[in-house]
Amino acid sequence: MSTMHTIKLKVNGMDYERTVESRLLLSDFIRHDLCLMGTHVGCEHGLCGACTILFDGLPMRSCLMFAVQANGHEIRTVESLGTPEELHPLQEAFTVKHALQCGFCTPGFLMSLVPFLENHPNPTEEEIREAIDGNLCRCTGYQNIIEAVKYAAEQMAAG
Ligand code: FES
Ligand code: FES
Repeated sequence: MSTMHTIKLKVNGMDYERTVESRLLLSDFIRHDLCLMGTHVGCEHGLCGACTILFDGLPMRSCLMFAVQANGHEIRTVESLGTPEELHPLQEAFTVKHALQCGFCTPGFLMSLVPFLENHPNPTEEEIREAIDGNLCRCTGYQNIIEAVKYAAEQMAAG
Protein backbone atom coordinates (compact mmCIF):
# COMPACT_ATOMS: atom_id res chain seq x y z
CA MET A 1 0.00 0.00 0.00
CA SER A 2 1.29 3.44 -0.92
CA THR A 3 1.45 6.11 1.78
CA MET A 4 1.61 9.89 1.47
CA HIS A 5 4.62 11.98 2.47
CA THR A 6 5.29 15.69 2.54
CA ILE A 7 8.61 16.57 0.96
CA LYS A 8 10.56 19.82 0.77
CA LEU A 9 13.19 20.32 -1.90
CA LYS A 10 14.85 22.94 -4.07
CA VAL A 11 14.41 22.66 -7.83
CA ASN A 12 16.21 25.05 -10.18
CA GLY A 13 16.74 27.45 -7.29
CA MET A 14 13.10 27.49 -6.12
CA ASP A 15 11.78 25.96 -2.91
CA TYR A 16 8.91 23.47 -3.20
CA GLU A 17 6.78 21.63 -0.67
CA ARG A 18 4.55 18.85 -1.98
CA THR A 19 2.70 15.83 -0.66
CA VAL A 20 3.45 12.74 -2.74
CA GLU A 21 2.79 9.03 -2.75
CA SER A 22 5.71 6.92 -1.58
CA ARG A 23 5.71 5.03 -4.90
CA LEU A 24 5.94 8.17 -7.11
CA LEU A 25 9.08 8.19 -9.26
CA LEU A 26 11.20 11.32 -9.11
CA SER A 27 11.02 11.59 -12.92
CA ASP A 28 7.21 11.60 -12.80
CA PHE A 29 7.24 14.09 -9.92
CA ILE A 30 9.45 16.47 -11.91
CA ARG A 31 7.35 16.15 -15.07
CA HIS A 32 3.81 15.94 -13.73
CA ASP A 33 3.83 17.62 -10.31
CA LEU A 34 6.27 20.39 -11.19
CA CYS A 35 5.40 20.53 -14.92
CA LEU A 36 9.08 20.55 -15.90
CA MET A 37 8.70 18.54 -19.09
CA GLY A 38 12.30 19.01 -20.22
CA THR A 39 13.29 15.92 -18.26
CA HIS A 40 12.43 13.08 -20.63
CA VAL A 41 11.49 9.52 -19.83
CA GLY A 42 12.60 6.78 -22.21
CA CYS A 43 13.20 3.34 -20.77
CA GLU A 44 12.17 3.97 -17.15
CA HIS A 45 14.64 1.42 -15.90
CA GLY A 46 17.97 3.16 -15.83
CA LEU A 47 19.33 2.33 -19.27
CA CYS A 48 18.88 5.29 -21.60
CA GLY A 49 19.86 8.31 -19.49
CA ALA A 50 17.09 10.52 -20.94
CA CYS A 51 15.84 11.32 -17.43
CA THR A 52 19.21 12.53 -16.12
CA ILE A 53 19.06 15.45 -13.69
CA LEU A 54 21.54 16.97 -11.26
CA PHE A 55 20.92 15.77 -7.71
CA ASP A 56 22.99 17.83 -5.29
CA GLY A 57 25.19 18.64 -8.30
CA LEU A 58 25.69 15.07 -9.49
CA PRO A 59 24.09 13.49 -12.58
CA MET A 60 21.44 10.96 -11.55
CA ARG A 61 18.76 8.99 -13.36
CA SER A 62 15.52 10.36 -11.98
CA CYS A 63 13.57 7.25 -13.09
CA LEU A 64 15.57 5.19 -10.61
CA MET A 65 14.63 7.32 -7.61
CA PHE A 66 11.46 7.98 -5.73
CA ALA A 67 10.30 11.56 -5.18
CA VAL A 68 10.46 11.04 -1.40
CA GLN A 69 14.22 10.46 -1.71
CA ALA A 70 14.59 14.05 -2.89
CA ASN A 71 13.34 15.40 0.43
CA GLY A 72 15.85 17.98 1.68
CA HIS A 73 17.90 17.86 -1.52
CA GLU A 74 18.61 20.17 -4.44
CA ILE A 75 17.75 19.31 -8.02
CA ARG A 76 18.58 20.95 -11.30
CA THR A 77 16.79 20.12 -14.53
CA VAL A 78 17.55 21.13 -18.10
CA GLU A 79 15.23 24.13 -17.67
CA SER A 80 17.87 25.71 -15.42
CA LEU A 81 20.55 25.85 -18.12
CA GLY A 82 19.61 28.63 -20.49
CA THR A 83 16.76 30.40 -22.23
CA PRO A 84 15.87 30.41 -25.95
CA GLU A 85 17.35 33.93 -26.09
CA GLU A 86 20.45 33.06 -24.11
CA LEU A 87 21.46 29.43 -24.45
CA HIS A 88 23.98 27.75 -22.17
CA PRO A 89 27.28 27.33 -24.12
CA LEU A 90 26.65 23.58 -24.28
CA GLN A 91 23.17 24.09 -25.72
CA GLU A 92 24.63 26.54 -28.22
CA ALA A 93 27.30 23.99 -29.16
CA PHE A 94 24.72 21.23 -29.70
CA THR A 95 22.93 23.58 -32.08
CA VAL A 96 26.02 24.72 -33.96
CA LYS A 97 27.44 21.20 -34.33
CA HIS A 98 24.13 19.51 -35.23
CA ALA A 99 24.35 17.28 -32.19
CA LEU A 100 20.63 16.60 -32.00
CA GLN A 101 17.97 15.30 -34.31
CA CYS A 102 14.68 14.60 -32.57
CA GLY A 103 16.15 16.00 -29.34
CA PHE A 104 14.59 13.36 -27.13
CA CYS A 105 17.90 12.31 -25.59
CA THR A 106 19.35 15.83 -25.49
CA PRO A 107 18.28 16.96 -21.98
CA GLY A 108 19.89 13.86 -20.52
CA PHE A 109 23.12 14.42 -22.45
CA LEU A 110 23.23 18.06 -21.36
CA MET A 111 22.68 17.25 -17.69
CA SER A 112 25.42 14.61 -17.81
CA LEU A 113 27.80 16.95 -19.59
CA VAL A 114 27.38 20.19 -17.63
CA PRO A 115 29.14 18.91 -14.48
CA PHE A 116 31.60 16.98 -16.65
CA LEU A 117 32.74 20.18 -18.38
CA GLU A 118 33.00 21.97 -15.04
CA ASN A 119 35.45 19.29 -13.90
CA HIS A 120 37.13 18.75 -17.30
CA PRO A 121 37.50 22.18 -18.94
CA ASN A 122 39.83 20.71 -21.58
CA PRO A 123 38.55 17.17 -22.14
CA THR A 124 40.09 14.55 -24.38
CA GLU A 125 37.87 12.65 -26.81
CA GLU A 126 38.25 9.55 -24.66
CA GLU A 127 37.07 11.44 -21.57
CA ILE A 128 34.07 12.78 -23.49
CA ARG A 129 33.14 9.29 -24.71
CA GLU A 130 33.37 8.01 -21.16
CA ALA A 131 31.25 10.90 -19.85
CA ILE A 132 28.39 10.06 -22.23
CA ASP A 133 28.57 6.29 -22.05
CA GLY A 134 25.42 6.22 -19.93
CA ASN A 135 23.34 8.21 -22.41
CA LEU A 136 21.76 6.61 -25.45
CA CYS A 137 20.71 8.41 -28.63
CA ARG A 138 18.29 6.44 -30.75
CA CYS A 139 18.51 8.82 -33.72
CA THR A 140 22.12 8.99 -34.72
CA GLY A 141 25.73 8.32 -33.99
CA TYR A 142 27.64 10.13 -31.33
CA GLN A 143 30.29 11.93 -33.37
CA ASN A 144 28.46 15.26 -33.58
CA ILE A 145 27.75 15.14 -29.86
CA ILE A 146 31.46 14.67 -29.20
CA GLU A 147 32.26 17.56 -31.57
CA ALA A 148 29.74 19.71 -29.70
CA VAL A 149 31.36 18.99 -26.35
CA LYS A 150 34.79 19.92 -27.74
CA TYR A 151 33.33 23.12 -29.21
CA ALA A 152 31.59 24.00 -25.93
CA ALA A 153 34.82 23.48 -23.99
CA GLU A 154 36.66 25.81 -26.40
CA GLN A 155 33.95 28.45 -26.16
CA MET A 156 33.81 28.26 -22.37
CA ALA A 157 37.61 28.51 -22.13
CA ALA A 158 37.55 31.59 -24.37
CA GLY A 159 35.07 33.14 -21.91
S1 FES B 1 14.21 6.91 -18.51
FE1 FES B 1 15.61 6.88 -16.91
S2 FES B 1 17.34 5.88 -17.70
FE2 FES B 1 15.86 5.73 -19.30
S1 FES C 1 18.49 13.01 -31.04
FE1 FES C 1 16.82 11.61 -31.13
S2 FES C 1 17.23 10.23 -29.53
FE2 FES C 1 18.98 11.41 -29.62
